[in-house]
Amino acid sequence: MSNNLSRRKWLQSSLSLAGGAALTAALPLSPASQTGCHASPRELTLKDEGWLLLGSNENAYGPSPKAREAMQEAVLRGNRYADVKPLVADIAAFRGVAAENVVLGAGSAEILGLSALAFAKPGTDVIAASPTFFVLQAMARRIGANVVEISLDADLRHDLAKMASAITAKTSVVYVCNPNNPTGTKLEASQIRAFCEEVSKKAVVVVDEVYHDFLPDTQKDPSMIPLAMQNPNIVVVRSFSKLYGLAGMRVGYGISHPDTVKKLQAMQAWSGNAISQVSMAAARASLQDQAFVRMANEKIAEGREIVSSYLKSENIFHAQSFANVIYFETAKFPKEFAKTMEAKKVIVRDGTALGRPFCRVSMGTVEEMRQFVEVLKSLKV
Ligand SMILES: Cc1ncc(COP(=O)(O)O)c(C=O)c1O
Repeated sequence: MSNNLSRRKWLQSSLSLAGGAALTAALPLSPASQTGCHASPRELTLKDEGWLLLGSNENAYGPSPKAREAMQEAVLRGNRYADVKPLVADIAAFRGVAAENVVLGAGSAEILGLSALAFAKPGTDVIAASPTFFVLQAMARRIGANVVEISLDADLRHDLAKMASAITAKTSVVYVCNPNNPTGTKLEASQIRAFCEEVSKKAVVVVDEVYHDFLPDTQKDPSMIPLAMQNPNIVVVRSFSKLYGLAGMRVGYGISHPDTVKKLQAMQAWSGNAISQVSMAAARASLQDQAFVRMANEKIAEGREIVSSYLKSENIFHAQSFANVIYFETAKFPKEFAKTMEAKKVIVRDGTALGRPFCRVSMGTVEEMRQFVEVLKSLKV
């Protein structure tokens, strides 16, 4: 894949620039599949040509050109602790909030974990959809909370009415992922706002908007950020991992009322030091690179169209996606679908919904999505 090739060349040149030639040489370059051992998709991103890495909802077009440059330059400051205040200020300006409304984390996953640590006490209930992203619920379980899962509706969207009716005096946190992972489905902004306003009277609502950036400008729903700024019981979670193309750099943030931001920061091992110099430089530069962001979003929408047109033409059930994923039913394909695809050098994830088998495919480049459809065609039973 030419993008992987340029990625590796870029990585090698950036390591050399930092005096890291020995490190470059140590990077194993032979395909993991030839060693006979199971390769994790994360290893593959560094090792292999010829794989379609469509399993982790990343942005195949990233990092942005400006972020690449900024990272190379920031490597030279790696001996110094990063001052994260400029990144916090940039995020605050970009999102129209104050610096006190922002908590930075090593990925938005850290903010989800902090939300569970701060608000989901042992013996309380955490309410979340199913299937949805897992990190907040996993942390909540670890600290002794119960997780109440509410199935998505027939259109694979959050069933807000059922979620609201599951709330009791024991409920501590309600997690809403919009657009949702793995389905890419979204709720109407008016519905989710009404839900947040009502539910935040009884519990903390965490609204995960890491896929919100994928909504095209023409139909961008209002974010819940304005609500979260003023309401201590609402946290909005955002990320640089998705449309901004920096999954491996681990930068995410939460936006909430300053009192809530302080509670989340109090759960961090060393608040203000979760982000490295290189990650910080990448995030700041990528905010400046809106031309890249627009280009990537258009290409990702093009890839989504290629896959969904094929699925439609074959009458294969899938959710209407507003993110860089498509979730489709695999009943017309071989069982153990992800394993079958891995044998074809394609990484995707198996899932279930509505009691049926599904696959989550993340959008790669447009060319990769054309190849993906060809593989699908060859497997249909
Ligand atoms: C809905 C959702 N939230 C949060 C995350 C965590 O992302 P990150 O920690 O890379 O920001 C993911 C990752 O896939 C996700 O799908």
